Amino acid sequence: MSVVDVRTPSRAYEVHVGNGVLDRTGELVRAAAGGRMACVVSDSHVAPLYAGRVEASLAAAGYETRQLSFPAGERHKTIQTWAGIVEGLAEAGMARDDVVVAVGGGVTGDMAGFAAACYMRGCAVAQVPTSLLAMVDSSVGGKTAVDISAGKNLCGAFLQPRVVVADVACLGTLSPELFADSCGEVIKHGVLADPALFDELAAHPLTERGADGLDYERLVRVVTRNVEIKRDVVNADERERGLRQTLNLGHTLGHAIEAASDYRLGHGASVAAGLCCVARATAAWGLCDPGLPAMIERCVAAHGLPTGTELGADEVYRWALADKKRHGSTINVVLPLEIGRCELRTLTLDEFAELVRLGTEAGR
Ligand code: GLY
Repeated sequence: MSVVDVRTPSRAYEVHVGNGVLDRTGELVRAAAGGRMACVVSDSHVAPLYAGRVEASLAAAGYETRQLSFPAGERHKTIQTWAGIVEGLAEAGMARDDVVVAVGGGVTGDMAGFAAACYMRGCAVAQVPTSLLAMVDSSVGGKTAVDISAGKNLCGAFLQPRVVVADVACLGTLSPELFADSCGEVIKHGVLADPALFDELAAHPLTERGADGLDYERLVRVVTRNVEIKRDVVNADERERGLRQTLNLGHTLGHAIEAASDYRLGHGASVAAGLCCVARATAAWGLCDPGLPAMIERCVAAHGLPTGTELGADEVYRWALADKKRHGSTINVVLPLEIGRCELRTLTLDEFAELVRLGTEAGR
């Protein structure tokens, strides 16, 4: 088991990563958040698997407990579902010093976190991520949101959790497809900040399973390293004024590809495709080694993720402009310069259109 300390300007908290740590959720939430009542929020897939165990552990730590659940899937990450959660918190009798416990993947963490950010103008949230993507990315750093028709995560707030409890044993019930999807964000972290992590992923894809299934010891180590990478960024730039934007590597095109697929393509797969596209464009502009895109593509493909998109450049461009990363007539894009070193660039919309064309057309 490992503990990563996050220290953002608004809150310091611990991320506990371990094999079997789920049953310690109650004591960890009690120590970090206090309160009288804890409401477990999860979706229809995760609730039958883990909500009961988390609730039992919260009850053992002295909480009066409640459970709320909503239909699983990105298409339910809506204002309507969010409103149902907030109404549910009120019906449960949650007070301002009580705690929302988000148990699930990124959709659950984002929506339960946004409900906690708004309920009574803000109550505590604890994040209990059960997907790899939520463990390595969305549960840490305090971003919460819902999707609206104009685009993904366009309505949200920052609310740092009181504690994060990441039990890699939960990854054993994740479908191989969802597990592979999450690897898109893990590869992104390697490209962004850690050549050793990238080399390890390229040589031994995280999706490889031994005769005994997943290697939980390796997963504790890899998740911890990913949380450290994210921690270093959000400690320095909690509100995404500068450095934190580098975590959007692969996301400008990735979000566009994801939204254009009507969310049928997973977030991690979309980010992986976006990462390959931006690497190809960076190489075409002569800003990185010409071999860099192929290195990234090989690692992405080894995890069974797409290295490009069938979408036309015009369609990707249109969706990308709806994203938060656009600022009037410019758009911020993160370019990979080498493995472990990236740069945030502000592009004119014409330059961005060229980037999209170079990245998407070369990937077909
Ligand atoms: N997922 C990117 C961030 O949290 O900033």
